[in-house]
Amino acid sequence: MKNNNCIIIIDFNSQYTMLIFKILRKLKVYCEIYDCNNISVNKIYNINPNGIILSGSSHSVLNNGPMLSNKILNINIPILGICYGMQLIVKILGGNVENIINCREFGLSRIVIKNYSKLTNNIYDRVSNNGFEFLDVWMSHNDVVTKIPDGFTVIAGNDKCKNAIIADEKNKIYGLQFHPEVSHTKCGISLIKRFIFNICNCIPDWNINNINNTIISSINNLVKNNDKVILGLSGGIDSLVTAIIINSIIGKRLICIFIDNGLLRLDEYKLVTLVSKNFNLNTIFINAKNRFFYALSNIDDAEEKRKIIGKIFIDIFLEQSTNFSNVKWLAQGTIYSDIIESKNKIKSHHNVGGLPSNITLKLLEPIKKLFKDEVRKLGLKMNIPYNILYRYPFPGPGLAIRIIGKVNANLCKLLRLADNIFIEELKNSNFYYRIDQAFTVLLPIKSVGIIGDCRRYDLVLSLRAINTSDFMTAKWVKIPYNLLHKISNRILNEINEISRVVYDISDKPPSTIEWE
Ligand code: XMP
Repeated sequence: MKNNNCIIIIDFNSQYTMLIFKILRKLKVYCEIYDCNNISVNKIYNINPNGIILSGSSHSVLNNGPMLSNKILNINIPILGICYGMQLIVKILGGNVENIINCREFGLSRIVIKNYSKLTNNIYDRVSNNGFEFLDVWMSHNDVVTKIPDGFTVIAGNDKCKNAIIADEKNKIYGLQFHPEVSHTKCGISLIKRFIFNICNCIPDWNINNINNTIISSINNLVKNNDKVILGLSGGIDSLVTAIIINSIIGKRLICIFIDNGLLRLDEYKLVTLVSKNFNLNTIFINAKNRFFYALSNIDDAEEKRKIIGKIFIDIFLEQSTNFSNVKWLAQGTIYSDIIESKNKIKSHHNVGGLPSNITLKLLEPIKKLFKDEVRKLGLKMNIPYNILYRYPFPGPGLAIRIIGKVNANLCKLLRLADNIFIEELKNSNFYYRIDQAFTVLLPIKSVGIIGDCRRYDLVLSLRAINTSDFMTAKWVKIPYNLLHKISNRILNEINEISRVVYDISDKPPSTIEWE
């Protein structure tokens, strides 16, 4: 998306890579993550970053851990190696890494500054009476650097870890044995700032205006004069922001398609009609409920449901594209977390990887480098009303993955009503905006209940509400009991077919946000 003023993070499969990424974006520096197996010197030349960060890893350089081309260390771009990243630098450049039981460290550690370095100058947590500067840092390593490569100096260490910070000032290559990205390392952010701003000379320009301009120029470069673009409008903010931005550039050459698949939230059709009108979008509305329900009628496996639904969506887009001349592009509101989550192969969700290989339309994904909060900021800039921008995310396969097991129109109707009650009560109690996502799930079990004097044997519904900053991890929300009580009462009284309501108290990980 951007060829300069950026940092690339090479990921060696570290649990903390996303933390580094977020810190950089918060500091308004554009950055991208590359898998260590999918990066080459040529690629780096093309990206032309201001600096490179090598992440930590769950592997060991002594035990066939992932490697890095030594050419990458010679391309005259500042490099910061963190933990495994530092050990890799040492190994490649001829130093020594060993596994010494007494040197293993997991947790807080105090290191003393021994020599000057541009990276650490004037950054410390404590000065001793005799003038020594100390840093309190978070360690998490089995292996340890026992000999530094030629050209490097030891900047800081302690008895257990003699080489906790090393630097080759001339070539601007730095290594930290600890994790500056973890909040326990008090000076961590200062060290990262020093690296990106003073050593890599990045400018903090990743702000909404710049993001907007970058996206507009990338669309302008790709979509030629007469090209038409097809876009699936789902009611969610990612596709809406994508539509509005493309619409602002090519107007009616953008053809939005809203498909009612019978798996949507209550009144979604009304909402999309209104929004399309307000933003002057050229939208075609298609009722394909029967087609979806027919295809799903015997399916209870979640991944299969996702694939079937994704395929029908694409089939309809392709069918529609033949009604217009010169349709060259299929636009999607893919965002960065979609790509990262799909890479993890936890679920085959999102727009990623679901297209047939023989598709002739080219993919236009203008916001695929943004996170949800950045998409929302962009949406605010485009004057999308707050109540739409901050609606809870809704998965592409819709209610089909919130009905565990087989799906049909009647179950969807019940779930839609229950979900609406839950959301209405969250709004009435001013809880809605304190939660990042909430919904209901229909379980494939029945339970005994009683209405008046009659026994009933009906469905069980679960409420789910989570808080999260990135949807990659999440905590269940402690909704007050009296509010939960009100919600369950309404659902049990207003929907005959539901006899029991339960509340999901599972964090992600180990659970996921959706049940399927
Ligand atoms: P999970 O369940 O993976 O959800 O923890 C993380 C976020 O992704 C949404 N989600 C989906 N979105 N298609 C989508 O477009 C899907 O198949 C899908 N599955 C999960 C989920 O609602 C949450 O916001």
